[in-house]
Amino acid sequence: MMNFEIINRKNLTEGIVEMDVHAPRVACAARPGQFVIVMACEECERIPLTLVDWSCRGGWIRLVFQEVGVSTYKLGMMDVGERLYHVAGPLGNPTHIDKFGTVAIVAGGVAIAAAYPIARAFKEAGNTVVSFIGARNSRLLIYRDHIAKISDEVHISTDDGSEGFKGFVTQLLEKRLADGFKPDLVWVVGPAPMMRSCSVVTKRFGVKTIASLNPIMVCGMGMCGACRVRIKNEIRFTCVDGPEFDAWDVDWDELLHRLSAYREEESYALKLFLESRGIKVSR
Ligand code: FES
Repeated sequence: MMNFEIINRKNLTEGIVEMDVHAPRVACAARPGQFVIVMACEECERIPLTLVDWSCRGGWIRLVFQEVGVSTYKLGMMDVGERLYHVAGPLGNPTHIDKFGTVAIVAGGVAIAAAYPIARAFKEAGNTVVSFIGARNSRLLIYRDHIAKISDEVHISTDDGSEGFKGFVTQLLEKRLADGFKPDLVWVVGPAPMMRSCSVVTKRFGVKTIASLNPIMVCGMGMCGACRVRIKNEIRFTCVDGPEFDAWDVDWDELLHRLSAYREEESYALKLFLESRGIKVSR
C-alpha cells in the first residue's frame, strides 16, 4: 500500500466525509487532540484536520471534514485507491488527559467527530464523561453512536428542534449547569462563536474550560504566523502552542475577526470552482 493512499471513504451525511488514509508513521505517533495538515494535490491548499482516530497496527489515520471551500471539496472528490499529495503530522500538543472527575465534552457540527478521541481518552483515564453534542438538524448529528459508546450521558441539541433540545448546544449546557450539574472540567470544540458562548457560560458558573481552536493555518509548524491568537493579551501560535487553550484567556473577538478575513475570497473561489464543474450555487 502506498503512503497517503485513501483506504476508506464514506459520506457520513450531506457534505461531511469520513476518510481513512494509509499513514503509518503518523498513526504510530498520534495522541488525542493532535492534528495533521493535508494536501490533496501538489498545488492544493494545506488543510488542518484533527485526527479523529488511528491505528498504529493498521497503519491508518481517520479524518472527518465538511466540504465548505475549494480545498475540502477537492479532497472530498477523491476516492479509495487515490493518493493524497501529502500528510504532515501529528502536529500540535496532545490534550492534557488526567483524572479530573466529571468532564463535560461540548461539541458542535462536524467537530463532534473531533471530540470523539478526546472523550474516549477522558473516559479511559477514569473520568465520568458527560457529552453535549449539537448540530443544525438531526441529520447533521454525526458520530453520535461513537460518542454514546464512551459517554456516561449524552445530551443532544438541534437548532431546528428535530432532535433533543431545541436551540444551541451551549444553551443546553447552560440549562444543565443552572439545574445543578457540576463538572470539574469542560472541553469544547466547534465553530468559534459557539466556543465563545461556551466560555461565557462556564465562566459564569466557574467551571474551567479548555477550547480546541480552529484558526486559519498554513505551515502548521510555527513559522508563518497565520494561526496567531491572543491569549491573556499575548500572541501565541495555535499550531505549536495549542491547539488547546484555556477558553477564558482567548481573545474571541480577534479570533472571529481573523477567521472571517478571507470569507469573500473563499466564497468567490468556491463559486468559480463549482460552476466550472457545472454545479449551480446560490451562496
Ligand atoms: S500555521 Fe503557521 S505559524 Fe501556525
